[in-house]
Amino acid sequence: MRKLIVNKVSTPGKIILSGEHAVVYGYPAIATAINLRLTATRAGKIESDIPIGAGMGSSAAFAVAISAFKVGELNFEKINNHAYKLEKDLHGNPSGVDNTIVTYGGFLWYRKETEDFKTFKQIESKAKLPKLFLLNSGKPQESTKEMVSFVAGLYKRKKKATEEIFRQIEGVTKGFLRLLLDDDNFELGELIKNNEKLLERLGVVSDNTKQIIKIIEKEGGSAKISGAGGIKDGSGMVIVYHKDIKKISLIAKKYNFGLSPVKLGEEGLRIEK
Ligand code: MEV
Repeated sequence: MRKLIVNKVSTPGKIILSGEHAVVYGYPAIATAINLRLTATRAGKIESDIPIGAGMGSSAAFAVAISAFKVGELNFEKINNHAYKLEKDLHGNPSGVDNTIVTYGGFLWYRKETEDFKTFKQIESKAKLPKLFLLNSGKPQESTKEMVSFVAGLYKRKKKATEEIFRQIEGVTKGFLRLLLDDDNFELGELIKNNEKLLERLGVVSDNTKQIIKIIEKEGGSAKISGAGGIKDGSGMVIVYHKDIKKISLIAKKYNFGLSPVKLGEEGLRIEK
C-alpha cells in the first residue's frame, strides 16, 4: 500500500438522497459526495466550504481528513474505519454512511447490517443527472446525536409505526436507485416529495422548514431535508428540485431564498499538493 507521504488532503461534503435515520436501523441509504470541500494539512490549519451542523457531512469530512493522516497510508478501508470510530465518539450511534461517502465519493448505496458488517457499493449512474439546488433552512438547534436519539425514542415508544415509516423510506431509496440506473418509471420530484413526507412523519423536520418546503411545492418544485434534520428551529440544508430550472431563480427572487446549485457524484478523499 502506498505510504501517505503528502501533508495535505481534501474531503467532500455529502448529501443523502434518501434513507437518513432509517439507515441507522439497517435500512439502505443513497448518499452522494458534493462539490463543497474541506482541506486539511497535517500541521492542523483547516479550511472548509462545508457549512457546519447543516446535514452536509462537515464532521465526517473532518473525521476522514484527520484519519488519513493518522492511518498514514492511502488505504481507504482503514481510513474509513478510523473515521467511523471518530464519528462514534461524536455522534454516539452513527450508521457510518457519512464517513463512507466522504471517503469513497461518487454515489453510494449503503447499508449497516450490524456494527461490524456494513455493505456499500458505488452506483455508476447512467442517468443524466438533474440539477439540484441547496437552500439553508437554518442551523438546527439539535445536534445529529440528539436527532438520532430523538428517533431512537420514537422507535422505542412506537416500534411498529416507526418500522413502517422506515420500510416506506426503503421503497423510496430503491426508487432513487432505479432512477440513477436510468429507469424512467421514477420521477425525481415525486421521490423527493415522498421522502420529505416520510421524514416529516418521523418528526425530524421543523415547522419553519415545512413552511419553506410547502412554498417550493406550491411553486411546482420539490424539496427535502438531507441528514439528521432539526425540530425547534432550522433543519439544516434542504435539497431543492424543479423540472423547469428557470423557475428556481424566480422562486429565489420572489421569496428571498438563497438557492445555490450543487454538483453531485464528486470525488471522495483526495491528496492535495
Ligand atoms: C446523518 O447525516 C444521517 C443520519 O441517518 C445519521 C447516521 O446515519 O448516522 C441521521
